[in-house]
Amino acid sequence: MLRARRKSPSPRYIAFAAISIDGRISLAKDRLPDWTSKEDKKFFQTSLAHCDAVIVGRNTYYAAAARLRRRITYVLTSRVSRPQKRGSVTFVNPAITDIAPLLSVHRNVAILGGAAVYQYMLERDLLHEFYITVEPLLFGRGIPLLVGGTSMHTLRLLSVRKLNSRGTLLLHYKA
Ligand SMILES: NC(=O)c1ccc[n+]([C@@H]2O[C@H](COP(=O)([O-])OP(=O)(O)OC[C@H]3O[C@@H](n4cnc5c(N)ncnc54)[C@H](OP(=O)(O)O)[C@@H]3O)[C@@H](O)[C@H]2O)c1
Repeated sequence: MLRARRKSPSPRYIAFAAISIDGRISLAKDRLPDWTSKEDKKFFQTSLAHCDAVIVGRNTYYAAAARLRRRITYVLTSRVSRPQKRGSVTFVNPAITDIAPLLSVHRNVAILGGAAVYQYMLERDLLHEFYITVEPLLFGRGIPLLVGGTSMHTLRLLSVRKLNSRGTLLLHYKA
């Protein structure tokens, strides 16, 4: 992870995604990614320990609610008209509420998807780093990494790591 900028009040936004070779993040919207390698799970948990908030879409939240309720979590949804806080979880509609000021109290924000959330954050310059784990699997169906994009984005590859002998690759990009 790149070092957080100390002088800026803005958080560092770091996205994490595990994908199949054919670029899918999930087989279905209500399922957890139970197909990722133990090496990626370890990397993911270690990385999350450095993040003081996470941001997810409503489907991802409900697929992993038990875990996400233990964190400071922001859930993007069109179903609220103003931010609604339940414990450490805030439901927010970014079409109505500017999320940048809301998140500005944090230092490192983990963007955990799904597809519309990665896309939304990328298009608003609220994504600084992207860790993409490519598992050696072909789904042939499922939810893509991104959805509804309106422009092309060029990222810079910072590193590639082979995580295991099966060939799981961890790609680290700067946006
Ligand atoms: N492999 C991975 O790394 C990874 C990462 C994340 C998720 N997943 C998996 O992917 C699946 C869920 O992904 P998904 O792409 O279907 O769903 P998602 O992004 O988690 O949720 C989509 C929903 O979130 C809300 N939302 C997202 N962006 C929004 C925006 N900009 N403004 C307002 N609302 C917004 C909308 O809900 P409303 O209908 O309430 O408006 C939308 O229908 C699950 O199976 C999860 O386990 C895998």
